[in-house]
Amino acid sequence: MASISSLGEASIAIFSSIIFILCFHLFKKPHNKGFLRNWPVLGMLPGLLMEFHRIYDFSVENLEASNLTFAFKGPWYFGMDMLFTVDQENIRHIMNSHSSNYTKGPDFKEVFDVLGDGILTADSKLWKSLRKASKAMVDHQRFQKLSMSTTRRKLNDGLVPLFNKIAEEETVVDLQDLFGRFMFDTTLMTVSGCDDPRSLSIDMSEVDEFAKALNNIGEGIMYRLVNPKFLWKLQRRIGFGQEKKLSKADATLNQISRCNQVRALEPERNDDKFLRDTMLAFILAGRDTNASALTWFFWLLSENPQVVANIRQEINTNLPRITTGGGGPERPSYDVSMEFLNKLVYLHGSLYEAMRLYPPVPFERLSPVKQDKLPSGHEVDPSMKVLIFVYALGRMKAIWGDDALKFKPERWVSMTGGLVEVPSSKFFSFNAGPRACLGKKLAMTQMKTVVVEILQNYDVQVVEGQKIEPAPGPILRMKHGLRAAEDMLTSSGYPAGQLGVPCRTARGTLPDSSGHPVGQLGASRRTARVPEPTLLWVPEPTLLRVPEPTLLWVPEPTLLRVPEAFPHEEAS
Ligand code: HEM
Repeated sequence: MASISSLGEASIAIFSSIIFILCFHLFKKPHNKGFLRNWPVLGMLPGLLMEFHRIYDFSVENLEASNLTFAFKGPWYFGMDMLFTVDQENIRHIMNSHSSNYTKGPDFKEVFDVLGDGILTADSKLWKSLRKASKAMVDHQRFQKLSMSTTRRKLNDGLVPLFNKIAEEETVVDLQDLFGRFMFDTTLMTVSGCDDPRSLSIDMSEVDEFAKALNNIGEGIMYRLVNPKFLWKLQRRIGFGQEKKLSKADATLNQISRCNQVRALEPERNDDKFLRDTMLAFILAGRDTNASALTWFFWLLSENPQVVANIRQEINTNLPRITTGGGGPERPSYDVSMEFLNKLVYLHGSLYEAMRLYPPVPFERLSPVKQDKLPSGHEVDPSMKVLIFVYALGRMKAIWGDDALKFKPERWVSMTGGLVEVPSSKFFSFNAGPRACLGKKLAMTQMKTVVVEILQNYDVQVVEGQKIEPAPGPILRMKHGLRAAEDMLTSSGYPAGQLGVPCRTARGTLPDSSGHPVGQLGASRRTARVPEPTLLWVPEPTLLRVPEPTLLWVPEPTLLRVPEAFPHEEAS
């Protein structure tokens, strides 16, 4: 009896102690200045999971409140301790002066095992040799020429016909999906020398197996990053859930075709597996990053029409016009050779600004090889990970000023009209130090070429009211995509509804030269269809912003659109 009662007392004592510890931790102020409470046994994981649905915003708030560095404590014995930092001194220390102590590490390789031995996951000797060979390839003039001609060909054969169709049929497209397909086709053609897989075409058929496998890899890797190792390893063993998808994707990627460019990289390692890993690394490096950057960029443009106007003006001023069309309707076209693209400083700054706020690779995760002390005073050791939170870095007021959250391309343009130089420890979107992105220049040229083509021919109308938020993942994708419609522009290079000088607005029917109405401006859709080349008589200062009654030549089928800046206002 005595032993039972003492057992009971002991249980009560243990139970009370647990309650006491929990209450103590629940009500005491967290010892770090952030928001995550450090629980016994579970560490900060419960808090992190509660915030996971808004992990990006949460990290910005947390790092701002923690003086730019935050130590995350994972559950005991799970090896999930991490140091989050956006401190520039720490970044320089990790990426430059002490970079040999910070590697991707064996854990990274395990999580990203489907990528095999490609440059993105390699460390030490293998990485050095891949880096040297890849750099030689990316810097080679012929590779750059091939990349540019492939981009232009895909624009002409894939994107332009599709945009025209969307404009004609007044339908809506998911720009994120579209840019993903565009980059998939161009990257695969450039890297592998394959024929155009035509995942972006006028019929937008189901994406091919290979593209689907790449998408599943992204999801699978994210799942592994946020779940305890034993869980995803167990799932892998029994072939369940995300792990099942990952192993199917892995099998699909094994069928990637051989190609000469990659074969040349490492002549002594000419096996299929090595070629697959190398090609895969390049496709992943170039496809999702560019597609993500372009998607966020066009969304930001839709929120900032003045930036669109500035970019169009810069293009018109700096790029020589060339005539295309080959007997068909002429469409505005520009010489987009490197020499002229380099003059587009404001566009360059706008793309950087979009990638500052929405970096395609939102975090960099590294493992310390040996114990180390960072300039901020935080200690790190091999049992933990260091995470440079790139998304938060671009939004820190302490680093970018009070207007850090504002999309402001002007911050990249110097007084003399050049590009403002910013150290990579501050603008980290292309990584820094010995592992900095090899394709930065190429990516900027590709993106500028795409933007010039789109902005000079189309008025991208982002569907209003859709929810825009980033999805957690190794690449910053929009969770629900980006739905948009395309209105064509006239060959003048200006939106049809914005010709001439601003003037009063009017609603009414637009008759063509013979007096037949062609459309109703100011109606609910605020557009008028001009189905064929037409001479329009505009009888009074109207929504077209013509200063007086005028004849207007609309050289190709188009939609006239009421500019947003001129709301429903009757002509007097
Ligand atoms: C907007 C476009 C791009 C962005 C934002 C970007 C960003 C990055 C980042 C952050 C890394 C470091 C990844 C890591 O170590 O975790 C990286 C590495 C790399 N990128 Fe890019 N990238 C872009 C486009 C490209 C393109 C088009 C290419 C192809 C030519 C490319 C080739 C590479 C390669 C080969 C590496 C590996 C470098 C190494 O580990 O030594 N990137 N990129």
